[in-house]
Amino acid sequence: MKVENHFAEFAQYFDLQKGHLNFDGHAVVHSAGVDFSGGSSFRISAEDFEEREVLGSGNYGTVFKVLHKPTKVNMALKEIRLELDKNRLEAIVNELEILNRCHSPNIVQFFGAFFIEGGVYICMEYMDAGSLASLYHSGIDEPYLAKIALAVVKGLSYLKKEHNVMHRDIKPTNILLSTTGEIKLCDFGVSKKLVASLARTNIGCQPYMAPERIFTGNNADGSSSISTYNVQADVWSLGLSLLEAAIGKYPYLPEVTSSIFAQLTAIVRDDSPELPADRFSKEAVDFCALCLKKDSTLRPSYSQLLEHAWLVKYTEIDVNMVDFVLDRLNKTKT
Ligand SMILES: Nc1ncnc2c1ncn2[C@@H]1O[C@H](COP(=O)(O)OP(=O)(O)OP(=O)(O)O)[C@@H](O)[C@H]1O
Ligand SMILES: [Mg+2]
Repeated sequence: MKVENHFAEFAQYFDLQKGHLNFDGHAVVHSAGVDFSGGSSFRISAEDFEEREVLGSGNYGTVFKVLHKPTKVNMALKEIRLELDKNRLEAIVNELEILNRCHSPNIVQFFGAFFIEGGVYICMEYMDAGSLASLYHSGIDEPYLAKIALAVVKGLSYLKKEHNVMHRDIKPTNILLSTTGEIKLCDFGVSKKLVASLARTNIGCQPYMAPERIFTGNNADGSSSISTYNVQADVWSLGLSLLEAAIGKYPYLPEVTSSIFAQLTAIVRDDSPELPADRFSKEAVDFCALCLKKDSTLRPSYSQLLEHAWLVKYTEIDVNMVDFVLDRLNKTKT
């Protein structure tokens, strides 16, 4: 059978007899859950869930809102159809491994994973207000933007400090909010351990890519022979995501009016976009400008960002994120 031949090519990952997906000794994903080499395991399987709704689809699959019947808790289930591509399989095990080890108030909680024919299912905390992309509408005012910036910087800083990984896919759909006012990062599908602090592959969503990740001569396997980039590339994506949320639209010309090539060229050649100075404080404008420095070496580190006057100010100010989220959800419905 054709499918089996395909599976055979990936024998290092698949154990067809046992129905296991084996990730280089790091994790075994099977129909009843996942076992990590470190000893932790999660027992979770398809029968445990009742599908509620489709939350959306992206590059790696579809995300469903589901009810976990044994606990009666709503969860988000990400279905990744296996297209048997080596980079994709590696990205999945990276995501699982990192999620398994992450315990941070700014990272979505991982509940388990299972494998059934043709797909890997990753089960995580359901963020009931959806993503920043669905909530920013025509723009976000400074206090809310600052709290979002603070949460994302803390999440990214946690990933770097505690797990030595960069995220690589920071964008508004990967920043999730809840009606309890929480703000968390998801989707480490493309995050990787930093190899000597430099990441050598060019993956991730293009329009949020830092200039140094663009036009660098990719090899067919996705690796790059010319340029390397590092964790500062996530700082660029953070700046661009904040700017987008602040003004209510993607800051560069949208792809409908310009080709992807023109868009990427603009990111590399044009001056970086800026927060409008008439709506935002000097500190806010400065914060985004620093994140969007085209020379990556001039972008601040996470500890510098956390010490930036803008974040310091809003660390001390109480901002009602719950009311903000509820108000935005109400407006989304009408
Ligand atoms: N845990 C979650 N809780 C609530 N909504 C989620 C959760 N995870 C993902 N979503 C939403 O589901 C939708 C699809 O997510 P998905 O990650 O597949 O696509 P994406 O983020 O748009 O693109 P990409 O594949 O590049 O990450 C997005 O709108 C996302 O915000
Ligand atoms: Mg996503």
